[in-house]
Amino acid sequence: MADATLIESVRGREVLDSRGNPTVEVDVTLRNGAFGRAIVPSGASTGRHEAVELRDGDPTRYEGLGVLRAVAAVNDVIGPAVSGAFDAADQASLDARLRELDGTANKANLGANAILGVSLAAAHAAAAAAGQPLYRYLGGPEAGVLPMPMVNIISGGRHAAGGLDMQDFLAIPIGAATYGEALQMVVAVYRAVGRVLSQTGPYAYGVADEGGYGPPLPCHEDALGLLYDATRLAGYRCARDGDVAIGLDVAATEFAGDGGRYVLQAEGRAFSSVELVDLLDHWSKTYPIISIEDGLSEDDWDGWEYLTQQLGGSAQLIGDDLFTTNPERLAQGADDGIANAVLVKPNQIGTLTETLDTVHLAQERGYLPVISARSGETEDTTIADLAVATGAGQIKIGSITRSERLAKYNRLLRIEEELGERGRFAGRDVFARFSNP
Ligand code: PGA
Ligand code: ZN
Repeated sequence: MADATLIESVRGREVLDSRGNPTVEVDVTLRNGAFGRAIVPSGASTGRHEAVELRDGDPTRYEGLGVLRAVAAVNDVIGPAVSGAFDAADQASLDARLRELDGTANKANLGANAILGVSLAAAHAAAAAAGQPLYRYLGGPEAGVLPMPMVNIISGGRHAAGGLDMQDFLAIPIGAATYGEALQMVVAVYRAVGRVLSQTGPYAYGVADEGGYGPPLPCHEDALGLLYDATRLAGYRCARDGDVAIGLDVAATEFAGDGGRYVLQAEGRAFSSVELVDLLDHWSKTYPIISIEDGLSEDDWDGWEYLTQQLGGSAQLIGDDLFTTNPERLAQGADDGIANAVLVKPNQIGTLTETLDTVHLAQERGYLPVISARSGETEDTTIADLAVATGAGQIKIGSITRSERLAKYNRLLRIEEELGERGRFAGRDVFARFSNP
């Protein structure tokens, strides 16, 4: 064992996320003095199969959302067990030990928030000890692909109060030549949407949980139309072979009702799985939609099979609540031919090793990995480095306002500068496999 990178101390604390909710921050210090810190994010539209985020449930603090139990797990259980005993440079062994200490399949005992905080902070410390940025430490000298951002412009569902049932309407700047240009393009689209909205009401400048607009539109197709029109107003061609294409996060689990019905309140209609797929298919023929996330709910495998048959050739179909960054669920999906892409959120599974396993499995099985933030975020930028380290090719962070989002977008700008000639933007090639619907 390398003595220098032996974990010397682990310290957890409660800090706040972008919704003002408590979350876990962990500091790891190594014997040689190298230091790493990570803050764990938190979802709102969480999937049933996610690892457990431990909350105190004490109504006298933060309405029960405190994380002092998870912090205690870091300081009183994990810290004593790994300090002086584990090498931060041996991530796999450390993560295996964290899972063993927890002892459950879904990390319900110590909490995925406690475990992930330690796992990521150890990686940061090991990178610092190696004198390397995290993307280089995790990805090796070959790491150099800047991801295509898919950027939330209009929000609905649990992330906004405007009344749309579907969660994200995203701009994908497929025509950009560089990551920096991609950001500039989506900012122009965002501004154009704001200009259109400001003509109709005062709500234009309110932002939702991920920094997008959350306007009260009468139906979902209006959100698509708004995004399409604003893109053109910004001077871009909104087309599959143009400058900007459209992505959707339907987040269908959130409006799946009893008896397999999907209830769209905004439309005043309920849909079967087949009807909802047919609606998405119809929209895809009208608008340049090249990516659809959680088009159906987390356990609607039959519906997902139909969705994949109908749209899998023409659009990226991302499983978020469906796969929950879980290699076993992704393997099941790949065996069954369900979806063709996977959202990767480290706190859905709870260790860096398992997160990387999911990305590698996706790459082996021909699934497109999309590294993703949560709706509750912080200044932590680990996922930016993770995207470059793995060459995932895509990242989803939310909109381009609110600094918990910008911390990651800006981190990627710095990485782009640092890589210089060695860097390459994933670009529109990410979507090359999809043909017109
Ligand atoms: P969440 O939303 O973090 O609230 O789960 C993000 C997403 O659904 O992609
Ligand atoms: Zn999602």
